[in-house]
Amino acid sequence: MRIVCIGGGPAGLYFALLMKKQNPAHHVTVVERNRPFDTFGWGVVFSDATMQSMRQWDPETAATIEDAFNHWDDIELVFKGRKIRTTGHGFVGIGRKKMLNILQERCLELGVELVFEREVQDDGEFPEADLIISSDGVNSRTRAKYAEIFKPDMLIRPNRFIWLGTEKRFDAFTFDFQRTEHGWFQAHIYRFDDKTSTFIVETTDEVFKAHGIDKMDQDQSIAFCEKLFAETLDGHSLMSNARHLRGSAWLNFGRLICEKWSHFNGNSHVVLMGDSAHTAHFAIGSGTKLAIDDAIELTNQFNRIGHGRENIAAVLEAYEEVRRIDVARIQNAARNAMEWFEVVGHRYADTLEPEQFMYSMLTRSQRISHENLRLRDPVWLEGYERWFAERAGAPASPNGHPVPPMFTPYSVRGLKLANRIVMSPMAMYSATDGVPDDFHLVHIGARAMGGAALVFPEMTCVSPDARITPGCLGLWNEEQKEAFRRMVAFVHEKTPAKIGIQLGHAGRKGATKVAWEGTDQPVEHGGWPLVSASAIPYLPHSVVPRAATREDMDRITADFVRAAKWSDEVGFDILELHCAHGYLLSAFLSPLTNTRDDEYGGSHENRARYPLEVFRAIRAVWPADKPISVRLSTNDWHEGGNTPEDAAVFAKMFKEAGADLIDCSAGQVVKDEHPVYGRMWQTPFSDKIRNEIQVPTIAVGAISEADHANSVIAAGRADLCAIARPHLADPAFVLHEAAKVGYAGQVWPKQYYQGRVQYETGLARAAAVAAAPPAGKA
Ligand SMILES: Cc1cc2nc3c(=O)[nH]c(=O)nc-3n(C[C@H](O)[C@H](O)[C@H](O)COP(=O)(O)OP(=O)(O)OC[C@H]3O[C@@H](n4cnc5c(N)ncnc54)[C@H](O)[C@@H]3O)c2cc1C
Ligand SMILES: Cc1cc2nc3c(=O)[nH]c(=O)nc-3n(C[C@H](O)[C@H](O)[C@H](O)COP(=O)(O)O)c2cc1C
Repeated sequence: MRIVCIGGGPAGLYFALLMKKQNPAHHVTVVERNRPFDTFGWGVVFSDATMQSMRQWDPETAATIEDAFNHWDDIELVFKGRKIRTTGHGFVGIGRKKMLNILQERCLELGVELVFEREVQDDGEFPEADLIISSDGVNSRTRAKYAEIFKPDMLIRPNRFIWLGTEKRFDAFTFDFQRTEHGWFQAHIYRFDDKTSTFIVETTDEVFKAHGIDKMDQDQSIAFCEKLFAETLDGHSLMSNARHLRGSAWLNFGRLICEKWSHFNGNSHVVLMGDSAHTAHFAIGSGTKLAIDDAIELTNQFNRIGHGRENIAAVLEAYEEVRRIDVARIQNAARNAMEWFEVVGHRYADTLEPEQFMYSMLTRSQRISHENLRLRDPVWLEGYERWFAERAGAPASPNGHPVPPMFTPYSVRGLKLANRIVMSPMAMYSATDGVPDDFHLVHIGARAMGGAALVFPEMTCVSPDARITPGCLGLWNEEQKEAFRRMVAFVHEKTPAKIGIQLGHAGRKGATKVAWEGTDQPVEHGGWPLVSASAIPYLPHSVVPRAATREDMDRITADFVRAAKWSDEVGFDILELHCAHGYLLSAFLSPLTNTRDDEYGGSHENRARYPLEVFRAIRAVWPADKPISVRLSTNDWHEGGNTPEDAAVFAKMFKEAGADLIDCSAGQVVKDEHPVYGRMWQTPFSDKIRNEIQVPTIAVGAISEADHANSVIAAGRADLCAIARPHLADPAFVLHEAAKVGYAGQVWPKQYYQGRVQYETGLARAAAVAAAPPAGKA
């Protein structure tokens, strides 16, 4: 095969040498516009995993690269006059120039033809090539030529950064945050050879412009950075090697995704590789890794399918299929990390204390969890846990270890919770005429004994026509009230848990079948008229609701007030107002379901007017020492719907009206939604609302183990974690998670003592077996 790589960056060079090595009969050429020793940038970092696969594929290159590596373990934060350091993070850094030279030399050794100082204008310049690798970087000309086919999606991010170097040798990956009169700047600093460190300075566009950096030339902007980071630079200067860039040389990162990666141009197969196919923000330092991994995978597919030109189409297809998944995973993590740096100034730096700021920064991509931090640096993590537990007023754990964050107590108004875990409301569709019966008593009772500090029965409807299904719980008559009184009494008298009530009105999602007969499907018999913000049905065949009249609103507010009063009378400890999931109050908030042209539709203020009326009315009758939380859909996951930005506006309004907690759920407002699922997937919305609006929050959604909850609470992404489905699978979820993380302070029901001993012994035994060396053969 004749192979041409356009662009001699890490992707082009590494692929060239791997293919030549696999099959010396291939004719492989790399065409690079620069001279061999010219390059932009300073050092790049690698993870141990990338080095491991490089060792497998070409031990020679890996060895030379490793010889040239600088390895370091520590991360240091410089923030608000403090320096905080943790270890165990394992990075290796190398100068980009050095690395390219190593790859170039290896290419020559293996017989790859290297052509320098030739700028390729068009892939048509190589009609004889069977395969053309478009490894020409993020501004790829080849990708641009076939944009119709590759369909690149380039998202230019708002932050500005400049990639500089310094001769100060840093012994840790250092993050330095400096505040100016206009806002925050951060420097990402790491050493990559004996005398040089990379020094990337980043800030928001507003701060960049407020300082007039957009009008500075490179020298002026470098002088600005030197002054700003003078203490850390300690007399050293900053250097640029991007003199070819015009103006101040500050860039915006562009996140690139391509719909397709390969194309047959009539003569040759053309395929995108490295930055020309995708980019990952430098906040997780994975651009070079992705380029190297692409080169490895394409070679791997040739080995698997065959090195002949007849196989190229199949190879390219397989390459794209495999790489897409890994790239998406890294881009996801990079996005979280990148967004953290985009909002760090106003969201975290202004408010968090240095200890928690450090924790938030280390876990910014949500890939590194609490227990992962323990593996890296147990001493630092334990110190942080102690710091956190002391602030939360947690008594010391019986075994001397600090109390893990999720097991620290939390107070709001007069409510004192033993830990941070809430059993989230979950409809059971098992009531008759809204009355809780023995099923509900046992269901809630079991979970209240299972360790959650607070349990919520399902959404409780304030009138018969406020129900979602005929099986929903309600609180509009004495019989219901007495049955709730019994449930609350059981929880208070027999368990350490507190119990809350979630009050709601189904709105246009009412009169539907119970879940196991068809979620959201209208009931065939015994339905009732529906009311919503606007007369828009949920499904095309759903009952069309009436747009609420003022009279409807008054009646419904009165129903909420009655239910709130009775909830207090029977002893509920906290009330949650359900303003999420497309039910009545949520339907007022979302522009997708509220198209009213009166004072209840249109602006944020108008859309929130009725939900706030209800909130204020219940706040007025709910005792001052008992809190109220408000559950919001913090993202409609639909074009034109509410975004987390809108949710933050509403959260602020509820906070000002007296809400104590915002419970950050998302979606279910319209059927045609496009949620992005994943571990702790709604937690970023809670993080935003808590830290930007400064209101306590409950995070919910795929928080499925202690490790998740500990990370969320420790980082200050929420104050409480609501856990739903895991509680269906395991009523004693919290007791079991406490045992799994070795938290000795968890109280079990005294009647269950022997079960606890056996459970903990079983875990200890399993851990011992896992830790034991494999038995030798006799
Ligand atoms: C500030 C910053 C910090 C970064 N830090 C890291 C890090 O710590 N770790 C990490 O892994 N990655 C990092 N990266 C990303 C990394 O530099 C890239 O992801 C990586 O270099 C991609 O390799 P590539 O071979 O695909 O493209 P490139 O390295 O961009 O190589 C493309 C090559 O093609 C050449 N070329 C382009 N057009 C033509 C043409 N028409 N004709 C001939 N030649 C052409 C260019 O001269 C260049 O040599 C960082 C990036 C930035 C911006
Ligand atoms: C069976 C079931 C019923 C639910 N009913 C309610 C409800 O009544 N009120 C509510 O706000 N959320 C309800 N939810 C949503 C959960 O409270 C929670 O937000 C969601 O399941 C995500 O959490 P998880 O990943 O821990 O399950 C329900 C979820 C399930 C699985």
